[in-house]
Amino acid sequence: MCIVAANFKMHKTRSETKKYIDELKKMDFKDVKVTVFPPFTAFIEDELIGAQNAYPAVNGAYTGEIGLEQLNEFNIKKILIGHSERRHILGESQEFIAKKFDFYKKNNFEIFYCVGEPLEVRKNGLKAVIEYIKSQFIGIDLNYDKLIIAYEPVWAIGTGVSAKLEEIKETHAEIRKFTSRPIIYGGSVKLNNIKEILSIENVDGVLVGSASLDVNVFKEMIKIAKDIK
Ligand code: PGA
Repeated sequence: MCIVAANFKMHKTRSETKKYIDELKKMDFKDVKVTVFPPFTAFIEDELIGAQNAYPAVNGAYTGEIGLEQLNEFNIKKILIGHSERRHILGESQEFIAKKFDFYKKNNFEIFYCVGEPLEVRKNGLKAVIEYIKSQFIGIDLNYDKLIIAYEPVWAIGTGVSAKLEEIKETHAEIRKFTSRPIIYGGSVKLNNIKEILSIENVDGVLVGSASLDVNVFKEMIKIAKDIK
């Protein structure tokens, strides 16, 4: 099975998302597991939809956040946790991220858990990268049966420069030592590199940001995933 997920980040409105999902569902996904993470205001009730983030509580005095109650309204059962933009731009600590993980695990969510190193760590080699990723595993149940790990090197996200195939291969192989759950890759996955990335051992799918915004491109990506896996 192959996982292909779209992270819209802070793009698209609800009507655009609805159109996108309608178009996407015209195709047969076969064995490809497709998820779309739109912004909160673009939630619609559809089994493809997941949340990019949520606070670890049902509801409460958490200004600017949404919680389980708001996700339940849309029947959302999937969540992205620990994305590098939340870690580095929004300043989320590992402790807070682990709390989210715990809460949404208790609520039986499928969790896409993101890890990945900044450039200065990658420059120090694979061992340093793995040490860094290990610190992002603190407080995380790596055997959770609804866990999907997303390896996303920070320096490859939104830069147009994906990690080299060899770097993806060796990093996924190391992460594999910690978990038997699916490991997907993210970071400048495009139409012109998805095939070779999905062909790497221990790559069980992709998390796509900017290239997913065009539904026709994303459909092409799913088609390629269908053919490969
Ligand atoms: P990108 O984003 O495909 O635009 O690099 C990937 C992600 O952040 O999930």
